[in-house]
Amino acid sequence: MTDLDSILSQAQTAFEAAPTSAELENAKARFLGKTGQVTELLKGMAALSVEEKKARGAQINQLKSAIESALQARRDALARAELESQLRSEALDVTLPGRQRGAGGLHPVSLAIERIEAIFGSMGFDVAEGPEIETDWMSFTALNNPENHPARSMQDTFYVDMKDAQGRWLNLRPHTSPMQVRYARAHAQKHAGQEPMPEIRVIAPGRTYRVDSDATHSPMFHQCEGLWIGEHISFKDLKVVFTDFLRRFFEDDSIQTRFRPSYFPFTEPSAEIDMMFGSGPLQGRWLELAGSGQVHPNVVRNYGLDPERYIGFAFGMGPDRLAMLRYGVSDLRLFFEGDLRFLSQFR
Ligand code: DAH
Repeated sequence: MTDLDSILSQAQTAFEAAPTSAELENAKARFLGKTGQVTELLKGMAALSVEEKKARGAQINQLKSAIESALQARRDALARAELESQLRSEALDVTLPGRQRGAGGLHPVSLAIERIEAIFGSMGFDVAEGPEIETDWMSFTALNNPENHPARSMQDTFYVDMKDAQGRWLNLRPHTSPMQVRYARAHAQKHAGQEPMPEIRVIAPGRTYRVDSDATHSPMFHQCEGLWIGEHISFKDLKVVFTDFLRRFFEDDSIQTRFRPSYFPFTEPSAEIDMMFGSGPLQGRWLELAGSGQVHPNVVRNYGLDPERYIGFAFGMGPDRLAMLRYGVSDLRLFFEGDLRFLSQFR
């Protein structure tokens, strides 16, 4: 191998080994730069004869252009590699599905309660919320339940093994009716001495608890209490308000209602409210929807009001039942199992 061949192969090796363009340009300087090997060869020709210069010069020029083309080849290769890696790192896969924000939604029972609140709200009813852990007195005594009434029994009430500050036993409220007493007492106090006292008009939706569990009963369920007390409030008002509510809730003016005599300790007279659709799959069947009645004088007294003067009605209905009817759900338990496949249908 001549000295020229050896320089060429050194240059090729150095260029191949340069991992970046910057290092490639450094390697180039070692061969073609001012003090590079090829430049030194040219300087070394000074001492040669004219004949020798011709031959040697041609060889050196060949070497120079061989080195330059090796350099160019490596430059091209490096530029391609750099471009490729840049493209790879900046690549966008436009076929990927877009990132979505998981959209939540309200629970169907919450949707039903929101409808109830909006409709009664538009009829001038306040919306109140109260404690789910109640005193025995609020859940039963204030509502005219005799001490030995079966509604108090261990069978359907969840008792809490604890008393409140006044030594009254606590329970998980088995109905929202205690809210009648809580709200009416606060109302009577707030308007004490005011003549005339503004009417009480309130609904109180919320969770209620009973020892009960099957396709139509859950140990935790919802109720919505309603109360309208004034000086001249009668069953006629109840029928108008409740029928109007149902027609708006179900968006169906063919709905009819009827009162069926019943018994509740806190009302006298008492009635179940039944409804019937005039069309659709449930057409023509009476469906039991709510308990109701004219508030018993003993209960009005427990509101802190004079039953000789104040009169009105109360009702208690089940938002779970209303949601089942409105959304066509046949098993109450579906509402409380937390299965997203079921729940996401209501978004
Ligand atoms: N609290 C009753 C229950 O849970 C429902 C009820 C009936 C509420 C009559 C009332 C009423 O306000 O007047 O079964």
